[in-house]
Amino acid sequence: MSLENKEKYEALQNVIDELKNEPGALMPIMQRAQDIFGYLPEDVQNYIAKELDIPVSDIYGVATFYAQFNLEPKGKYIISVCMGTACYVKGSQLVLDKLEEVLEIPAGRTTADGLFTLNATRCLGACGLAPVIMVNDDVYGRLTPDQIPAIIEKYRR
Ligand code: FES
Repeated sequence: MSLENKEKYEALQNVIDELKNEPGALMPIMQRAQDIFGYLPEDVQNYIAKELDIPVSDIYGVATFYAQFNLEPKGKYIISVCMGTACYVKGSQLVLDKLEEVLEIPAGRTTADGLFTLNATRCLGACGLAPVIMVNDDVYGRLTPDQIPAIIEKYRR
């Protein structure tokens, strides 16, 4: 185990020791584990299960049910596609479909090269520009699906 990983597991162990006997400890432990590791790798899920003496399937169930948990590392670029009402009526579903096609992943996943994570999100607060996506902090508005390949290409370079 690398030193960095060792430190992370030590931090996780401290969190578990601190919360283990509290009622409803699982969610906060998982949240803190995600803060420490950036996501919830399988090894971390197994570790928490062992420490709490619960089946790992319980942890996996919670992790897949709540959108706040990530089971894989996030990409360098996080693409957020607004699915709020204003964007939806202006065709955000078509924009999302095009992104899924170009990136070859469904929403919620990360590309194999680790570059992009694709998320469908609630209102991004720029409804006047609907339909809107964000790539990290960059905002793109009044989008049509045919603009998507060029936007992605910019970040691949
Ligand atoms: S609904 Fe998309 S930015 Fe508000």
